[in-house]
Order: sequence, then structure tokens, then C-alpha cells
Amino acid sequence: MNKLIDVTIPDIGDFRDVPIIEVLVKPGDKVAKEDPLVTLESDKATMDIPAPQAGVVKELRIKTGDKVSEGSLILTLEAVASVTAETAEPLKPTPVVQAGKPGSADIRAEVVVLGAGPGGYTAAFRAADLGKQVVLIERYSDLGGVCLNVGCIPSKALLHVAKVISEAEEMARQGVNFGKPEIETDKLRGWKQSVTAKLSKGLAGLARQRKVQVVQGVAQFASPNMMQVQTRDGGKTVSFDYCIIAAGSQAAKIPGYPDDLRIMDSTSALQIRDIPPRLLVIGGGIIGLELACVYDALGSKISVVELLDGLMLGADRDLIKPLQKRIEKRYEGIYLNTEAAKIEAQKDGLKVHFDGNNAPKPQLFDRVLVAVGRKSNGKAIGAENAGVQVTDKGIIPVDKQMRTNVPHIFAIGDIVGEPMLAHKASHEGRVAAEVIAGHKVAFDARTIPSVAYTDPEVAWMGFTEIQASEQGIEFEKAVFPWAASGRALAQGRDEGMSKLLFDKSTNRLLGAGIVGPNAGELISETVLALEMGADAQDIALTIHPHPTLSETVFFSAEVAEGTVTDLYIPKK
Ligand code: FAD
Ligand code: NAI
Repeated sequence: MNKLIDVTIPDIGDFRDVPIIEVLVKPGDKVAKEDPLVTLESDKATMDIPAPQAGVVKELRIKTGDKVSEGSLILTLEAVASVTAETAEPLKPTPVVQAGKPGSADIRAEVVVLGAGPGGYTAAFRAADLGKQVVLIERYSDLGGVCLNVGCIPSKALLHVAKVISEAEEMARQGVNFGKPEIETDKLRGWKQSVTAKLSKGLAGLARQRKVQVVQGVAQFASPNMMQVQTRDGGKTVSFDYCIIAAGSQAAKIPGYPDDLRIMDSTSALQIRDIPPRLLVIGGGIIGLELACVYDALGSKISVVELLDGLMLGADRDLIKPLQKRIEKRYEGIYLNTEAAKIEAQKDGLKVHFDGNNAPKPQLFDRVLVAVGRKSNGKAIGAENAGVQVTDKGIIPVDKQMRTNVPHIFAIGDIVGEPMLAHKASHEGRVAAEVIAGHKVAFDARTIPSVAYTDPEVAWMGFTEIQASEQGIEFEKAVFPWAASGRALAQGRDEGMSKLLFDKSTNRLLGAGIVGPNAGELISETVLALEMGADAQDIALTIHPHPTLSETVFFSAEVAEGTVTDLYIPKK
């Protein structure tokens, strides 16, 4: 065995307790003399600590975030006389390795982005804007990923239609009667597609303007610095210095159900092939309830079956109540604590057998929508060929800079796990691109807001009451019921509420929840307030326009301050 050397921090001048912001090597890596091992960052400078001599890294004794001073042990190195600067693998970027053809890729990229969803295209465009030469690989001809093509945008287009239909229906209460809507499904589908096509073409244009090269094909890692892409014109290799994996997620399936076109996932449900007389939605999460809302307005009779004891369990129960009350009136059935255990495909429909204490009898449905969560695509990209770690659930773990266990490979969006939201993916995409460009950034948002675009909408951010209680945080809850909002009443929708949670020790905003029409727009103000560290007084002294729904946030802050005049709250 060769000699083991303890590598310590050399003389770094007057600096002490300097944080390590990056560990550039891992056990087993060969390094040449002077290769950088770790990067330190003080408030004045960033510096790399070089290898004192060539060798193989045996054991790391530090991790990112540790603080070091002169003499701190960082790793042990097995000295290898034969490893020289010429023979050692350069550390960052590592060389293109492809069996038989080293260095001979068809396409070369400084940054390759795998997947053109909201995470991937944002990362690609930001990296290009920061001067990187970028290749964006996407298996479909349309850019935009799940969100633009089969997720956020088409669902919101259809939810807009649903809103107009149900608002028109409800105008009868104000003495305005419209006839029953006639729905031309082909035209409706065509309009929805025109919306997504416009956006997708827009993205292709934005890629061209930035000189981002788009490669259409299915990509797999061939090695830590090479992608193998199956294109229409055959296999192509793309070599890269850095990679951002943004390959997203897919709908989770329930094993054992028959292979039948009448059993839909969100993608096929969004196609609106027809309007089934009876639709069963399996899964009372956001996807299930948004699509239930669409089909309900189009005229289907809806049933929802949910395994757990509540709908959309991520949100506080008081926010879900107005939604549940409304849909209980409109839908045929909402079965909680119930499982759709078996489906039999019959000629005249799908016979569904339920399991659970209050399970209904077997029933026949024309269609079933399975919306029981999404599964990250980590297992489908050959990650093992690049040494990228993937969990059993297909999730790729990353640090706050979106870096995987392989230092030059990053991952963002649904593939790194919950929450699986487009705005999270795009924010992470920006962070990854900026880190690659050398910016000192990390994902440090205080909150990622959630919105269910159901009717009524439900939105929340920061801590929920449940989370704050679980963590033992003392908070004050301030609620403004929309029954006291002039604007809500004028819109004929007074079932909503706005709720703010304040940290008792600082009086700063801790979390917020809003339910009611447009809650998804209203929540942004509270996100900004949280990010700015606003307290109840800051919000209560901010003049809001009257009469608006946005006032309900301000009134809630007044409730917390004890200054509200639009409600009467007896003094304690
Ligand atoms: P994706 O959008 O999944 O993009 C990944 C891309 O990678 C895809 O285009 C895919 O084709 C490509 N790809 C994968 N593997 C390969 C490969 N091997 N080779 C080449 N290309 C590959 N989020 C919200 O924030 N708001 C909403 O209103 C909302 N509504 C939704 C409604 C529905 C019905 C669904 C299903 C999702 C919704 N989401 C919503 C979630 C949102 O769509 C996702 O969080 C978001 O799309 C994730 O972005 P991403 O970039 O990580 O991945
Ligand atoms: P989800 O995980 O939010 O909800 C799925 C529901 O199905 C859960 O309540 C679960 O208990 C239930 N379930 C699981 N197995 C079941 C079974 N066998 N029978 C009955 N119920 C069962 O997943 P969902 O709604 O599919 O959404 C996936 C992701 O997409 C989420 O992460 C969500 O954040 C995101 N999304 C976001 C939207 C938005 O922001 N507006 C819209 C749509 C999706």
C-alpha cells in the first residue's frame, strides 16, 4: 500500500473558521498535484485548496458547510507516484468518457439541460443569458414539459371555462338566466390546444433568440460527461461540462387495474375526448379535485374516492371546509377513508369495488380518473452511468445549490421531489444555472406557495397551523371571513376566508391561507410579506384598494392588531 497523507488547510493568511462552500472530490477520485480539493469562501474572497501532491482520495474528513482554519484536516490521500498532472483525471469538468471513442461527441455543450419543462427551459435560458453555450434535450417536439402541455396551462384553460359555466349558472340567483350550455368538445379541445401551442412556439422562439440548441430525442447518460440521445435521425452523443437534469415526473399508477381507455390519467382527462355521464375520480388531491371541477361544470356527475381521511391533506382543514361544502352539494359522492380496490371493465361501464368502513356498494362508472400522485423520473435516464444517486422513489437528492452527488451534475424540478410545482421547478432552474455560471447563490426561499385552482380556490403558504403546532411554534391566528367583505358579497361568493398566522415571539408573518375565488392571486401578497419579514402592523398599515378581495388580507392583519373596524370583535 502507498503512503497515506493527511491533507490539512495550509496557511490562508488572517482567515479563521472559513466555511467550505464546495467539496470538489470524493473518495476514490484520482488527483494531480495542485488540483483543487475544496473551495472556501470568506466574506472577502473565495479560494480553492489544492492537493499537495498526486494521489487517490481515501477519506473525506469535512463536508460542505464545515468551518476550517489553518491546520484543519480535510482528507486523507494515498500518494500514488504514477499519478501525475498529465495522467490524473481533471476534476472539473471531467473528460468526456465514452467506450471506444473518447472525446468524439456529435454535439458539444458547456451546459446540457435534460428536459424542457418549466425547470429545464428556465435553466437553459438563464444559463445562456449568463454566457454559457447550452444544449436543451427534449423528447417531444413541443417545449414546455408537463406544465405547459399536459398540466398547469391546459388545466387552467379548462378551469376558466368551468368557472364561466358555473358563474353563468349561479347568476340565476341574481335573476339572470342563461340557458344550459351547449358544449362543442372539438372546439373546446381546439381552443385549449391553441393556448398551449402558442406558448410552446413562444418557447422555441426564445430558445432560438438565445442560441440555445434544442435537440429532440430521448436522452440517457452514457457516462459522467456524455449523453446518448435517441433522435429521429438515429443515436447522437452530446458531451458536456455541466448537466442540469430536469426530466420531471409522471402520473403514478395503481397496479391491478385493467388496461382500458376508459381509465384515464390527468393527461388523457385533459384531452376531453367526451363528457362522461358518470365519472369517478380516484385521489382527492389537487389534480383530482381540479379535474373534477372541470368535468362537473361540463356536465358529468362526479364521485371522489380518497384513501385518507381528508381532501388535499397538505392544507389546514378550515381552508378545505368551504370547498368541501360546495362540492358535497354538487357531486354524487365523496368517499373518504375509502379505496377503489378493484375495477372490472364491462361493456356498459367500469364496475368499481370499494374497500373501507363506509365504502359504498360496487358501482358502474363511464370513466375513472386516477390521480393518486406523481412519480419522479429519476430511474429512466441512465443516471447510474453518470454515478448520479437516485432513491427508490426515482428522486434525485440535491443540495441547496441543486447539485447532485456528482459535482458537475445538477437536478431540479419534479425529479428532485416534492413539492412538485412549476414555480418551484423554475426557481430551482435559475439557481442551478447561476451556480454553474459562478454566482454565489443557493435555494433559500422561505416558502413555496401552493394553490388549488378549484372552485373555490384554496391557497396557502409558509407554515400551516398544523405544521406550526407540530413544531411547537407559538402563533396568533387572525381570520377575516369573506361574509364581511363587500367585494365578495358583490360577487355572490361570501364563503371564503383569509387567515394569517403570526409568530407570537416576533409578531412576524409565519403563514397564510386563503379560500375563495382568486385565492391563488391573493396569496402572492402574503408570500412577499413573508419574504420581507413583514409583521402584522406592516400589513395593517398598508392601504389596500377598496372594494377588493385583497382587502381581506389587510383586514386579517387588522384583526391581529386589534384595529379592525369592518368586524366587531369583543375585547378579551
Ligand atoms: P416536467 O414539466 O415534467 O418536464 C420534464 C420534461 O423532460 C418533459 O418535457 C419530458 O418530456 C422531458 N423528458 C423526460 N425524460 C426525458 C428523456 N429521457 N429524454 C428527453 N426528454 C425527457 N404545477 C403548478 O405549479 N401549478 C399548477 O397549476 C399545476 N397544475 C398541474 C396540473 C396537472 C394536470 C399536472 C399533471 C401537473 C400540474 N402541476 C402544476 C405540476 C407541474 O406541471 C410540474 O410541477 C412541473 O411541470 C414540473 O416541471 P419540471 O421542469 O420539473 O418537469
Ligand atoms: P397528491 O399526492 O396531491 O394527491 C393524491 C391523493 O390520492 C392523495 O390524497 C392520496 O391519499 C390519494 N390516494 C393515493 N392512492 C389512492 C388510492 N389507491 N385510492 C384513493 N386515493 C388514493 O397528487 P396529485 O393530486 O396527483 O398531484 C400530484 C402533484 O402535482 C402534486 O405534487 C401537486 O402539487 C402537483 N399539482 C399541482 C397543482 C397546482 O399547484 N395547482 C395542480 C395539479 C398538480
